[in-house]
Amino acid sequence: MSNYVKFFRDTSPYINMHRGKTFVLMLPGECVGATNFSHIIHDIALLNNLGIKIVLVHGARPQIDEKLAQRQLESSFNNHTRITDTDTMACVKDAVGCTAISIEALLSMSMANSPMQGSRLRVIRGNFITAKPLGVRGGVDFHHTGEVRRIDRAGIRRQLDEGSIVLLSPLGYSPTGEAFNLSSADVATQAAIALEAQKLICFSGQTGILDADKTLVKSINMTEVQNWLGKLKDQPPLHDALRAGYDACLNGVSRSHIISYTEDGALLQELFTREGSGTLLSHDGGEQLRQATIDDVGGVLELISPLEESGALVKRSRELLETEISRFQVIVHPEGMVIACAALYPFAGSDAGELACVVTHPDFHNRGLAARLLQSLENQANADFGLKRLFVLTTQASHWFKEQGFRESSLAELPAEKAALYNLQRNSRILVKPI
Ligand SMILES: CC(C)(COP(=O)(O)OP(=O)(O)OC[C@H]1O[C@@H](n2cnc3c(N)ncnc32)[C@H](O)[C@@H]1OP(=O)(O)O)[C@@H](O)C(=O)NCCC(=O)NCCS
Repeated sequence: MSNYVKFFRDTSPYINMHRGKTFVLMLPGECVGATNFSHIIHDIALLNNLGIKIVLVHGARPQIDEKLAQRQLESSFNNHTRITDTDTMACVKDAVGCTAISIEALLSMSMANSPMQGSRLRVIRGNFITAKPLGVRGGVDFHHTGEVRRIDRAGIRRQLDEGSIVLLSPLGYSPTGEAFNLSSADVATQAAIALEAQKLICFSGQTGILDADKTLVKSINMTEVQNWLGKLKDQPPLHDALRAGYDACLNGVSRSHIISYTEDGALLQELFTREGSGTLLSHDGGEQLRQATIDDVGGVLELISPLEESGALVKRSRELLETEISRFQVIVHPEGMVIACAALYPFAGSDAGELACVVTHPDFHNRGLAARLLQSLENQANADFGLKRLFVLTTQASHWFKEQGFRESSLAELPAEKAALYNLQRNSRILVKPI
């Protein structure tokens, strides 16, 4: 099968899942200036064409710094928040306006000579954000620095429903007619919450959150966030991205992601592959092991059918699987995909059972998923069925089972009922484990 066909089949469940959903994308000013930004814009166009409702929130910190430098001005910060005096505010308006116009221009024009050639995007900006001043805090007057007071949810929804992309700048207006300089993280978080978005996706200069030995942390559980925020306090951009994701998830957004703006394709990889590309923050923090239900039949079939075709597993029809699904336990990816499964069949009138259909999706091998399932099924075999031995018949994974405490067995050891059904042609190894 060509890679193309496989790619398309693997991607289609995600296309289905994301269609009609609302994603808020936070683009820091550094991202807008990055060489990869034109690719990101094309990918955003692609998402829009796939029916995803997109709100872009851009930042402008380096652009503001540049304007200040041109005018030989310096602004001061308190706890990483800019104090926006009147001169600084003029630079903020200038920089934010220019940045928004560049993004609009890219979204309008750069589809020629790109994979999205011929597609027409509509980008909408407006006074969607009501702001209020930060005021005086700890004796420090923040002047024109503000925070989000309200998001015009209905106004944005209307635009999204018409297929437009909504672009929000880190500026808001007060009912008294003043403009305020806002943090893009605040705007993105509040927009995601107000719009009940499915995702808040924050672009960062790194692949995602990295641990002490620089390996990517693929997923973070809500209960681990405080710990991570402490570790990231010397990296304000990542800290702010995680904080934004956390606040959004606390207030109804399903998942938040931190992905790279320098790596070409990171956005698509995060959204359309099982593995993703960056760090995912979700309520369950990762894969969930649970009893399978009738709704998992499709997912289990998708997982096991390549192995049935290759002969590693005995073929099961959908009908058979439907009747036997209660024997299965599954591990489900945070995005809803079944990524591992295993089944337990107690033998009638015996203290033994059979473990079957132990499969982990190839993208998730060597992460201990099959071992987790085995442990869980062993517990179930023991506690629920009072079993003392577990058999497994395998053609290709006998070494894996031996490492899990199984030993070679034989047809003679199998309960008679099962031995009678043994398929000599498959010549499977018979292994057993006392539990
Ligand atoms: C066997 C299988 C379920 C293991 O899944 P998994 O989630 O990757 O397993 P774990 O993470 O718990 O264990 C990984 C370890 O087992 C090893 N391993 C995986 N498959 C193995 C095999 N067939 N033979 C020997 N060792 C194997 C890995 O190298 C790894 O060891 P390491 O960490 O020392 O390198 C998976 O490879 C699979 O789906 N195989 C095809 C289906 C199959 O044959 N199932 C058995 C029939 S019921």
